Amino acid sequence: MIEILAKLEAKRAEARAGGGPRRVEAQHAKGRLTARERLEILLDEDSFEELDMYVEHNASDFGMAEQRIPGDGVVTGSGTINGRLVFVFSQDFTVFGGSLSERHAGKICKIMDTAMRVGAPVIGLNDSGGARIQEGVASLGGYAEVFQRNVLASGVVPQISLVMGPCAGGAVYSPAMTDFIFMVKHSSYMFVTGPDVVKTVTGEKVSQEDLGGAGTHSTRSGVADMALENDVEALLATRDFFDFLPASNRSGVPERPTLDPADRLEPSLDTLVPAASNQPYDMRELIVKVADEGDFFELQPNHAANIVIGFGRIEGRTVGFVANQPTVLAGVLDINASKKAARFVRFCDAFEIPIVTFVDVPGFLPGVAQEHNGIIKHGAKLLFAYGEATVPKITVITRKAYGGAYDVMASKHLRGDLNYAWPTAEIAVMGAKGAVEIIFRKDAGDPEKIAERTREYEERFANPFVAASMGFIDEVIMPHSTRRRIALGLRKLRGKRLENPWKKHDNIPL
Ligand code: HXC
Repeated sequence: MIEILAKLEAKRAEARAGGGPRRVEAQHAKGRLTARERLEILLDEDSFEELDMYVEHNASDFGMAEQRIPGDGVVTGSGTINGRLVFVFSQDFTVFGGSLSERHAGKICKIMDTAMRVGAPVIGLNDSGGARIQEGVASLGGYAEVFQRNVLASGVVPQISLVMGPCAGGAVYSPAMTDFIFMVKHSSYMFVTGPDVVKTVTGEKVSQEDLGGAGTHSTRSGVADMALENDVEALLATRDFFDFLPASNRSGVPERPTLDPADRLEPSLDTLVPAASNQPYDMRELIVKVADEGDFFELQPNHAANIVIGFGRIEGRTVGFVANQPTVLAGVLDINASKKAARFVRFCDAFEIPIVTFVDVPGFLPGVAQEHNGIIKHGAKLLFAYGEATVPKITVITRKAYGGAYDVMASKHLRGDLNYAWPTAEIAVMGAKGAVEIIFRKDAGDPEKIAERTREYEERFANPFVAASMGFIDEVIMPHSTRRRIALGLRKLRGKRLENPWKKHDNIPL
């Protein structure tokens, strides 16, 4: 018996050794941790339970019959993060470059299936040379099996991808279909075709980092939600982030005790909005002052920064914040901002996370490039996302809510539950200057008359009371009481039940 146990230990040790000390050293030399070291940081101490440790590939071509390494390039199982269950897979670059074989894919699929059955999130740590070249089409089939599960799990359990090394070719489409992507700076990249192919096909010369590094994807493309400095920072950020997420679409939001009083007043908010209506102010300040303990986890901070999205808590329960940002492009809605916020709103709705929206928006961005690139369809995404969302929706208009953007930003008409305005709110079809130029064009040559008309227009519309008189605003609130109002509102809305008409699924403008 002792001998048998010793054999098991030896087999385990063999699997844990991965591709051996030389390859582990090479991994470390690149500033990267190994698959198992990463899981040790991501998960609570001693919580990881590994499965399928002895799985080997089934290939024999190209000398593969002689090269078998237990685990086959991916470490899978489950563990906890701050006590909450999570299923994980971590690709092991030291074993066949973390490349995906049929059996490697089977291991990932197994934990995804289990996660969906039990209702727990999946976190994938990606570090892979892509399809296992020696296996050919069997590997492509493996990818497609994973893709299919990404689709089925979408909206059922949260899926997070950490990209911590190479991720290229069709392999990028698994992370792309998950809910959130975190990348490591100067160590990870994602592209459909690499720099060499790009050069051959289009003649463009571009480095790996510029084409698909963490910097590019967290600023220009918006593919990544966060770019972290190194493996450790990425894993620790994921732990913090995980605490905000519900376990599944049926679990409800996590709740944790807080010492921050729900009725905390913030007098400083009374002077947040500057006197001049074209002067910017930082909308993050409002979010941070409203959220429990100022704890706000912002996503995509450097992409489409004219809109801010992220998670916070009110009375210990997760809420999704969406806010126009006056410091960037005056908080205008453009293609990227619409897409960024729409996907976030849909995530919140899918997982029963209430949405708090702060509005200061001068409208949609005019321009040939915006129109030619489809602002109509992309702007409609955000409108659609808010309109279909059935979770509690609380909206606070702090200043401008002009034109179509007023409607889009979780207005009363899109089934906003509580629509508040600060006394500084201006709810109108457009700003006074533009409006007067159009409706009093005949007075254009008379600056005095124009100034008078502008004053008249401002007096009539540059306030929240016209909208409030129509019931489009439920209450005009003191800025300092915003947290108290939101907390009270969310408490009252906990029992909200609202269903959309039966349908197979909707047809959001893609
Ligand atoms: C099998 C692979 C592999 C792969 C790497 N290795 N990629 N084995 N299939 N796809 C092995 C190497 O042979 C090597 O084995 C070890 O992993 C480490 O690789 P290195 O090249 O030494 O590492 P590095 O210099 O860091 O370069 C990493 C790399 C490079 C840039 C990822 O390995 C590379 O270009 N690999 C091929 C990438 C690729 O073309 N994949 C197929 C893409 S198509 P030893 O034994 O020497 O340690 C695809 C389609 C998916 O993925 C479609 C889904 C629909």
